[in-house]
Amino acid sequence: MLSATKRHELTLLAAGQPWLPALLLAGRAAKPIRKVPKLGWFVADPLVARQIYNDSTHFSIVSEGAAGHWWAQVIGDWVEDLFEGPGHTDLRNKVRDLFIAKHTDALVDRVMGAALKDLVADLGAGRTVDIAERARVLVGRSVSDLVGMSPDDISAIFGDHFTSDDPDEPFRVLFEHVEELVNLAIGTMASTTLDPVALERARALIGKLSSSIPAAYERADGDTTLGRCRELGLELEHASGLAMLMAVAGTDTLASAMSRMAALLHDSRDQRILLAMPERTPDAVRETLRVTSPAYLVGRSVTADVEIAGRKLVAGEHVKILTWSINNAVGDFSVNRDYVPETRQLWFGGGRHLCLGAQLVHSELTALLQALTANGRPYEIVERRYRRKVFIPTYEVLRIRLTD
Ligand code: HEM
Repeated sequence: MLSATKRHELTLLAAGQPWLPALLLAGRAAKPIRKVPKLGWFVADPLVARQIYNDSTHFSIVSEGAAGHWWAQVIGDWVEDLFEGPGHTDLRNKVRDLFIAKHTDALVDRVMGAALKDLVADLGAGRTVDIAERARVLVGRSVSDLVGMSPDDISAIFGDHFTSDDPDEPFRVLFEHVEELVNLAIGTMASTTLDPVALERARALIGKLSSSIPAAYERADGDTTLGRCRELGLELEHASGLAMLMAVAGTDTLASAMSRMAALLHDSRDQRILLAMPERTPDAVRETLRVTSPAYLVGRSVTADVEIAGRKLVAGEHVKILTWSINNAVGDFSVNRDYVPETRQLWFGGGRHLCLGAQLVHSELTALLQALTANGRPYEIVERRYRRKVFIPTYEVLRIRLTD
């Protein structure tokens, strides 16, 4: 029988895209690697996944079938260098320092500290809080910092979408626009070539989202991502591309992990373990990322014939690494589970494209978890709804309140 945690997770995936749970569950049969007509090779084995991530001679992130190909159509071929050429290594080396714990903890404190204090106070006062909505606002705050948009900038660009003068409204609206951009990736399973309508919309959204970057790049202080990019000598075009990439890679994925973490801790009843043993907080964060694996599938294209796990992959074919299936094969969510060496942190990919925001994700999830447990009491879920038709499945509503 399915556990409550698994049942809710699978329903959430189905609300996002109806075929997703079937694909990800059946995907386990692809271990280690299996060919599916018209779609390409599916990989459900951690070692084979890592072998592919580490082999940039035969696998590419910028050819048809992979994320970089999608990006190149939207912002221009120059991103191929940002993703795969010498520019990629250079850029990662230059910005590495921005993503160490000292910097990401400070960013979380500066950008989300006050909002998290409000969350603790609201829960402590017995109020019901919608964690899904708070997650969208928290991540909206983080994205606005990454792209250098102040609430006034957001209002100037997206103000006609505001429905209230709530100070959180700009961040909600920003989140929704980034989510709309990400949702344009729905339907790219067989091909990452965008149709003309989707391409036009993607370009329009990118144009709006990046419109504050030149001014922010000039004025931002060294504590912000764009300011640091300028100080590190990154030219504006690269800083802008990086900011957009981070905004798209790290918005829906992170908000999804946030609200699903709150649900998992409740559904598994592990929040009580965590309240008694706060030292297991890093395990709860790691388990959240393993079980949710918000980037559930990662694409690559084969650029030269190669043999992998006894199968011959031919140039031009697509490969899909089933991150969710691999990570969930380990078992149900448990804060008592220690680090699993086999999966390591496959939810963040691997090799040279390993998620750049991994430490920021840890800092943000840890801060949220600390806020959820700060009152020393467990919470109950009073309302739960799944978000429909989204590329990254998540909660639409997750209303919680403290209980005994
Ligand atoms: C729970 C949240 C997140 C998950 C599950 C996640 C997952 C991933 C995965 C699987 C990849 C590798 C993609 C591939 O190889 O094709 C990746 C790459 C990347 N992520 Fe994340 N990510 C998250 C949040 C973030 C955040 C918050 C940021 C930025 C602030 C970010 C920035 C990036 C960037 C820039 C890359 C590309 C790195 C490169 O190509 O060198 N991600 N992410």
